[in-house]
Amino acid sequence: MKTAVLFVCLGNICRSPLAEAAFRREAERLGLEVEIDSAGTGDWHIGYPPDPRAAAVAARNGVDISDLRARQVTADDFRRFDHIVALDSKNLRDLERLRPADGKARLSLLLDHVDGRQGQAVADPYYGEDSHFDSAWDDVTAGAQALARRIAEGE
Ligand code: 4NP
Repeated sequence: MKTAVLFVCLGNICRSPLAEAAFRREAERLGLEVEIDSAGTGDWHIGYPPDPRAAAVAARNGVDISDLRARQVTADDFRRFDHIVALDSKNLRDLERLRPADGKARLSLLLDHVDGRQGQAVADPYYGEDSHFDSAWDDVTAGAQALARRIAEGE
């Protein structure tokens, strides 16, 4: 059966679309059967494409994310997805609060999957400079590689 993985940040226009893209690439590399999506805890950007700076860093790294559209996390996501992966600890706390009683998804912080980076956030680049988007790409790539490896090992 396919493992379903949802990445969640605040707006679903910067970090979680990048995590979705990095994880999709890694899953393809490893030949994993996975369903992948991303969402935001907030509702400000519903229906919007990724921030142009996020689309640009993805493109610089060979991935087109321009077709993605932001959506807000729903109670049903906790039933549909096996893993819901938060980009920072505020997102994780919000997810714990939103989780319905019958939600089966395992919640985690993306960088918790990376040795030596437990508890760290993928910093929000929204109010930052272009270089912050490069850092976010590096972070989501490290997290995506570690998570994909873990899923490939059957965890
Ligand atoms: P994201 O970035 O959570 O990585 O998508 C943000 C996008 C929008 C806002 C904050 C963070 N905002 O405040 O509108």
